[in-house]
This record gives sequence, C-alpha cells and structure tokens, in this order.
Amino acid sequence: MLPEQADILWTYMTLAYTLFAFYVFGNVVQHCRENERVNGKLWGGIFGVFAVISFFETVHMFDLVQGEQITFMFQYQVLTVLAILLTWGIFFKSQDIQNQSPPIIRAFFFWSTVSICLAGYTNWLPQQRSDPPPKAAAVSEDLTMEEFVEMGRVIVFGAKQVAGQKSIGKGQCPLCHTFDPGDHIGRCPNLFGVQERSEKKKDEERYQTHPMKIGDPEPATGIVKGTPDQVPEEYRRAGSPDFIGEDYLRESLMCPTCYVVKGYGNDGDTKSPMPVISKPPISLSPVELNAVIAWLQSKDTPGEFANVTVPLPTAGSTAEEAPAEDEERPVFVTGNEPIQDMINTLGCPLCHTIPGVEGAMGALGPVLHEKTNAPARMKDPNYKGSAKNTKEYVKESILNPSAFVVFNEEAGEAYPDGLMPTTFSEMLSVQALDKLVDFISQTEAPPEG
Ligand code: HEC
Ligand code: HEC
Repeated sequence: MLPEQADILWTYMTLAYTLFAFYVFGNVVQHCRENERVNGKLWGGIFGVFAVISFFETVHMFDLVQGEQITFMFQYQVLTVLAILLTWGIFFKSQDIQNQSPPIIRAFFFWSTVSICLAGYTNWLPQQRSDPPPKAAAVSEDLTMEEFVEMGRVIVFGAKQVAGQKSIGKGQCPLCHTFDPGDHIGRCPNLFGVQERSEKKKDEERYQTHPMKIGDPEPATGIVKGTPDQVPEEYRRAGSPDFIGEDYLRESLMCPTCYVVKGYGNDGDTKSPMPVISKPPISLSPVELNAVIAWLQSKDTPGEFANVTVPLPTAGSTAEEAPAEDEERPVFVTGNEPIQDMINTLGCPLCHTIPGVEGAMGALGPVLHEKTNAPARMKDPNYKGSAKNTKEYVKESILNPSAFVVFNEEAGEAYPDGLMPTTFSEMLSVQALDKLVDFISQTEAPPEG
C-alpha cells in the first residue's frame, strides 16, 4: 500500500469513528427522551464525553505522521470505540430498553475488526512511493543565469518546498546551514553574506595560515589550498590562476578542511565537520557544484546576478550529466535496501560516525556507540524520555531527537538541540525503522588495537 493510500484509510477510519460516536450520543439521548425512567442526564453525559473524546482524537490524528498514526489508532482510538460499544450495550441491557444489543452495534463491531485487521496487515507490508521517474533535466543551449541559479537553489532546497517545513535538496545544505540573517541552529555558520566574505578571503591572515598554509595539499581530499589551477580538471575554473571569491566557495565545498570558520571546527578548528560535497554521499557533479556557487553568489540580491562569476554550462559539456536528476523524489526508504544504503540515503553519516558503516565519519553529533551509550543515557538523571531499553532509546532518538539532548564531554557543552532533523518518521516505512533501530542498537566501539 502506498503511504498516500494509508493516509486515506486512516482519515476515513478516524472520521468514521467520530461520526459513530456522535451517532451513538444522539441515539442514547433519543432513548432517554422516550423512556421517562431512564436517567437522561447521566447517560447523555457519559456518551457526550465519549463523543468529545473521539472528536479530539480525530483532530489529533491529523497532526500525526503516518508512522505515529497507526500506534495512536491502536492505543487510543480503537480503545475508545470499544469502550463506547461496551457502554452502549450496558445502557441497553441495564435499562431494559432492548434485551440484546441492536444490530448496528454488532455490525459496527464486525466492521471495525475487519478494517483494523486489514489496516494492520497492509501496514505490515513494505511501503513504497511510486513517484514518476525523474525528468531528465537537460542543460539547453539557451539556459539563462536566472535558470542556472534556480537550478542551484533546487539542489540546495529541493523542488518541493512545503510551507512550515524545512526543505532539503540533494545538496543537504539546510540540514546544517541557515541562510537568513539572525537565523541560527548552532555548530554551522549562517551563510548570509557569504558572497561578500568570499571576496575578502585571500587577504585574511587567518585564511592564509589556518589550519594549513596556502599551497599545502589537504590529505583527505588532495585539494591544494588556495591554488585554483590545481583543482581536479572537471571542477576547475577556466581563466586566470588568481584566487577569487568563487574559488573560496568552491574550496569550501570540495575541501572543507582547507579552511575552517572560527569556532565551527573540531579539534581546535583544525578539522571541518562539513562533508565534501563533490564526494559521496552527496556527490555533486561539476555543473551542479557551479550551480550551487552561482546561487550562493546571488542569493542575497534576489533578481540580480552581477556578482555571479561562474560561467553558464555549455550544452556540450553537460550532455550526459543530467544535473540534479532526482531532487523531485521525496527521500523514502522501504527497508528492502541494504542497511548501508539506507543509512546513506537518510544522511546519518553527514553528522555521525557509525561503526560498521563505511565512510560514516560525521562529527556534528555523538559517535553512535549505542550498545554502550544508550544504557548510560537512560541512567542519566537528566533523562526525561520514556525509553526502557536500548532499542526504545534508539527509536526515540531517531523520531524525537529532542527527547534527550546528549552532552558532549569533549567540548564540555551539550550537542546542539534542533540540529538533528525531526522528519525521519516521514522517510521510513515501519519495516525500515525497525531495521535501522536494530542496526544502530548494536553499534559499539571497535576493539582496541
Ligand atoms: C553536515 C553539516 C553540513 C552540511 C550538510 C553542509 N555544510 Fe557547509 N559547513 C558546515 C560547517 C560545520 C562549516 C564550518 C566549518 C568550515 O569552515 O568548514 C561549513 C562551512 C561552509 C561554508 C564556509 C562558510 C563561510 O562563512 O566561510 C560554505 C560556503 C558552506 N559551508 C556551504 C555549504 C553548502 C553550499 C552546502 C550544501 C551543498 C553545505 N555547506 C553543506 C556544515 C555543513
Ligand atoms: C544534521 C545532523 C544530524 C543528522 C543528519 C542525524 N543526526 Fe543524530 N544526532 C545529531 C545531534 C547533534 C545529536 C545530539 C543531540 C541530541 O541528542 O539531540 C544526535 C543524536 C543522535 C542519537 C543519540 C545518540 C546517543 O549516543 O545518545 C542517535 C541514536 C542518533 N542521533 C541517530 C541518528 C540516525 C540513525 C540518523 C539518520 C537516520 C541521524 N541520527 C541523523 C545530529 C544529526
């Protein structure tokens, strides 16, 4: 079943339950009117309360994501309906109105049971989005700078921006960065004004010497700091070998550790926690990387492209690159993927070092050694979450990261709250979440030596 269909089923069931609760209320009131000896206030009150509870449950249901809906449905709504049915039966019998519950009760009971079984069964099946295949976005001859910048914006934020939700595209930048003045999530610089800053970099003393000197190669990426003519050929800028603002931006993306913004690095600002954007898992192609730079250079002056120095791509050079091919597709994992692919798709390695996951060296969040971390967290006097065992703790951390904000012993302060995305429940099928939780619960420090 598709998530959309599941949503429709839940919506239908939750509305049906509330309508039913109100119907029962009306029916009871009517019986009370017809039978003088029945205490109308008492029974009307009881069923009125049920109707109101059902109503609020339905309202609440609409605020939940699909993964939580099923739990809520079984834990609360179904119980409410069963309680209504039971009380309704008692009402009829005890007041001698009818000696057997009316057919509608039995019919409704049957209908609920069948639909619950059906829903449980379909939810248990792996879910998969059936989105249309990605459009091949070809770069045409007459691409304008405005369109190129828009391509960059889509790589950063994705094609579908949903109001009130943080939207994140293939480039993953908003996972860490903010872009509007005054907007901060901690640990990653706000990129407002980055174009202006980039122009002045080469004259800054800190840039020239920190954490390595201009002309030194950075070991992890092989990029030679501050020398645009040594950039790997596909990504290299044509023209003069002088270091310009564009080169700083390109270097920030391809070699984050070549220069670390003050206060935002690890190990005394000598290592950047930012992923290399031209390498997996993000892997932007040269054209995509340039589109992002064009966007960075013009985003603070909407509609004005005078500051953009990257050239427009030529149709020939990009024929087989199909830039930004899949930004339309919402990220969704079914649980059928190998665990390593699942974790890469979700982006956990951008922030976490995870034993057993190749290349997961992220440094913005705690190292995931949950086999030992989780029990320790739950014993912490500040722990206010509701997990009772390691798996529950891991699940809680993934679905609701703010339930407990981990303290960073090395830095002597808490990890930033609100940095880890809260949207994973929308990206995971029930099966995928279980698989992820199983895996993360087993992670532990590799044996010494
Ligand atoms: C996992 C978190 C993370 C992601 C994802 C990320 N960054 Fe960063 N970025 C950082 C951190 C941390 C720094 C500061 C350390 C440094 O200078 O490398 C930084 C620094 C930068 C800088 C230098 C800022 C300055 O003021 O000089 C630029 C430019 C930048 N990022 C752009 C991007 C873009 C564009 C993307 C998306 C394609 C992106 N980043 C994705 C974490 C991230
Ligand atoms: C943008 C960065 C970011 C991403 C992406 C991210 N996390 Fe986190 N995560 C954090 C930060 C920061 C913390 C610590 C703050 C907190 O506890 O809320 C954290 C905490 C956790 C914890 C608790 C760790 C402990 O030792 O108590 C777990 C488990 C976890 N993340 C798992 C995941 C998984 C699994 C994914 C991918 C599905 C993921 N995270 C993606 C930043 C991130």
